[in-house]
Amino acid sequence: MALPKTVRILEVGPRDGLQNESTPVPAAVKIELIHRLQDAGLKMIEATAFVSPKWVPQMADNAEVMAGIRRKPGVNYPVLVPNMKGLEGAIAAGAEEVVVFGAASEKFSQRNTNCSIDEGLARFEAVAQAAIARGLRVRGDISVCLGCPYEGEVDPTAVVHVAQALDAMGCYEITICDTIGTGTAGKTRRVIEAVAKHIPVERLAGHFHDTYSQALTNMYAALECGVATFDCSVSGLGGCPYAKGATGNVATEDVLYLLDGLGIETGIDMNKLIAAGDYICGFLGRPTLSRVARAIRAKAA
Ligand code: HMG
Ligand code: MG
Repeated sequence: MALPKTVRILEVGPRDGLQNESTPVPAAVKIELIHRLQDAGLKMIEATAFVSPKWVPQMADNAEVMAGIRRKPGVNYPVLVPNMKGLEGAIAAGAEEVVVFGAASEKFSQRNTNCSIDEGLARFEAVAQAAIARGLRVRGDISVCLGCPYEGEVDPTAVVHVAQALDAMGCYEITICDTIGTGTAGKTRRVIEAVAKHIPVERLAGHFHDTYSQALTNMYAALECGVATFDCSVSGLGGCPYAKGATGNVATEDVLYLLDGLGIETGIDMNKLIAAGDYICGFLGRPTLSRVARAIRAKAA
């Protein structure tokens, strides 16, 4: 299959990138990061999560972050919501797009959201119904599609089950997530082909953590299947508090370099993107995980 001509990038740094940080990151820093990312040309920025602050303390400032963003026309700021309480918070904060997040394994679903896969889906159905009735857009993420930290191998049929349920409840896009980065290109292809038998591939997205250094390869395998939307995180920040040892998402800078090389237009300015990464890495006091950012900086020095 020919590669997609255009690709949508969803920047998840302010949410997935920071949710796992043990030291609090002030709302002002998150807001400044979001401003720098949108100035770099990113059109979709996952801003925060309306989850329980007891479960993920780093996202407790969700309303403050949403209130502080200088919203730029043409930019979407989706937020994670696990239940109706989260949706209420998201609506009060002026969110226009919400993301429900299920899992393809029972144990991960329990650890991440304290409920079974099907209990989670029932909650998401109520969330999606209420959100769509209010004119919000709803996406659906599926965790552990390429491997689970508690159950190991995940059968593609488990992914298909969740994807079909998310589709039926009105998610406009469904994201195949490799939460712990154990996936490889062959596995990625198999899962996407299995899901694409039921849901048009144009409505699928990829979210690849880079723990085993396979994320770019997995993304390329997904591109070859026709997937044209990818989540990534500036400087490769991130991880999930309920997936021990998993590192961040594929770095946005590395994704941009790949797409530029393929002649796929994104409208993102590499220098400004790297500067946004420098800003957050400077705050966190650690070097970027983006090989591309390091190489470009080294060349300029
Ligand atoms: P629970 O403890 O079973 O919730 O947690 P509950 O309904 O029994 O309520 C308990 C208390 O939490 C109550 O307060 C609720 O009001 C409150 P209390 O009466 O004790 O004072 N509560 C909330 N507060 C704020 N916002 C809410 C909310 N809901 C309940 N939305 C729950 C169940 C789902 C809430 C919890 O497990 C949770 O928040 N989980 C989220 C975990 C999370 O955020 N994980 C990281 C994001 S997912 C991820 O990173 C993967 C992804 O990147 C894709 C990939 O890589 O795979 C997306
Ligand atoms: Mg993730």
